[in-house]
Amino acid sequence: MNSIAVIGAGFVGLTTAACLAELGHNVICSDVNQDRIAQLIHGRIPFFEPDLAPLVAQNMSRGSLRFTSQNSHALQESSIVFICLPTPSLPDGSADTSYIERFLTVNRSDFTERCIIVMKSTVPIGAGNRFEALIARDDCNYVSNPEFLREGRAVHDFQNPDRIVIGSRSREAISSVRNLFKLESVPVVETELSSAEMIKYASNSFLSLKISFINEIALLCEKAQINVHEVARGIGLDTRIGSAFLMPGPGWGGSCFPKDTSELVQYAHSKGLQLRTVEAAIEANHDQKRNIVEKIVSSCDSSCAQVGILGLAFKAGTDDIRESPAIAIAEAIANRGISVFAFDPMVRRLPIRTLPTTFTHVESLERVCAGSDVLAVLTEWPDFSALDPNQVGKLMSRRVVVDARNILQRRAWEEAGFTYIGVGN
Ligand code: UDX
Repeated sequence: MNSIAVIGAGFVGLTTAACLAELGHNVICSDVNQDRIAQLIHGRIPFFEPDLAPLVAQNMSRGSLRFTSQNSHALQESSIVFICLPTPSLPDGSADTSYIERFLTVNRSDFTERCIIVMKSTVPIGAGNRFEALIARDDCNYVSNPEFLREGRAVHDFQNPDRIVIGSRSREAISSVRNLFKLESVPVVETELSSAEMIKYASNSFLSLKISFINEIALLCEKAQINVHEVARGIGLDTRIGSAFLMPGPGWGGSCFPKDTSELVQYAHSKGLQLRTVEAAIEANHDQKRNIVEKIVSSCDSSCAQVGILGLAFKAGTDDIRESPAIAIAEAIANRGISVFAFDPMVRRLPIRTLPTTFTHVESLERVCAGSDVLAVLTEWPDFSALDPNQVGKLMSRRVVVDARNILQRRAWEEAGFTYIGVGN
């Protein structure tokens, strides 16, 4: 059992803290946001992440998981420190590492002797070397251990990883970190720092590329009257391609793909290179959101008074709206002067920035449907795929549905008198 500090109580930090405690380690999780720590101490998780609340609760009651708002307090009793601080995008698309730099500068003297500092945050390639210089402690070892946690599946992904990536100068530190996870059957990629950092960016960029690819194929399928799902199945069975991440939709969003693809493109530019594939994936993603806006607006007739939007989260299984295609699409339609009513089962609050006055966030699915001329499904919540088209149709002014996630039963909606518009099907 190790005494571990986890710095940062976001979806990565809290998942890491709870899962390491579940493995039997003694974990103290620290966040400078005192309100967040106060919520956690009272057993409240400040965001939606399935399976996390019970894991936090049972490890708090066992005493294997504690919280503090003082980083120094967490560090003074820990031999291993996981850094799970945010690295948001700067205006030029590169990753902002100032939260990490500030932490390392302020707290470098708080690290215990021979402490292992494990970077879980996604940091630019080469940043680890810079952080080692900032730490400037010869007795401490720095390790890169990027996370591959999907929001909405974070606990599952932590406990069932496809692989563990660990980069460091110190073989001993790599071995110590590897043993923490107690996952003997999982492949471990032991490598040096920059390779570990590159693996993270290359993984997310490739996944983004794969989604942009199927989104473009979906548009081509529409022109050719081909069902994209049959194409996705046909290519996905090739083990060199794989069937995951071949679902067309409104585009990819979230706190990682947009940020990581932009950072990787910026990094390539800094090396005098252009990543045409990743740049194309980013551009195709912007196009996909525009395509869905056009699908919705062109399905409105001249008398179109109201569009109902189902889904605001960037994907189902989370309440996260960061870089959500659903929000971007809803805003774009409202900015054309069309009245938009939007609902999401998990999203309770919307970004502070002023949304168009024609955009209304409502608390009920029925309110979205009532009076709408067109209904658009933008997030793949099960509540939406289970809707009864006949009941929905009775509430609407016109029976038009744009299914940007292809989750509705097309035949049932058409039999209920709807014009059904999907993505590639
Ligand atoms: C991602 C990576 O999967 C994870 O490994 C990394 O650590 C963090 O970033 P996440 O951002 O939570 O996780 O979401 P993910 O499930 O990967 O989906 C990303 C975006 O792609 C979402 O907008 C989703 O709707 C979209 N998507 C995903 C598709 O449009 N089609 C698909 O088939 C899969």
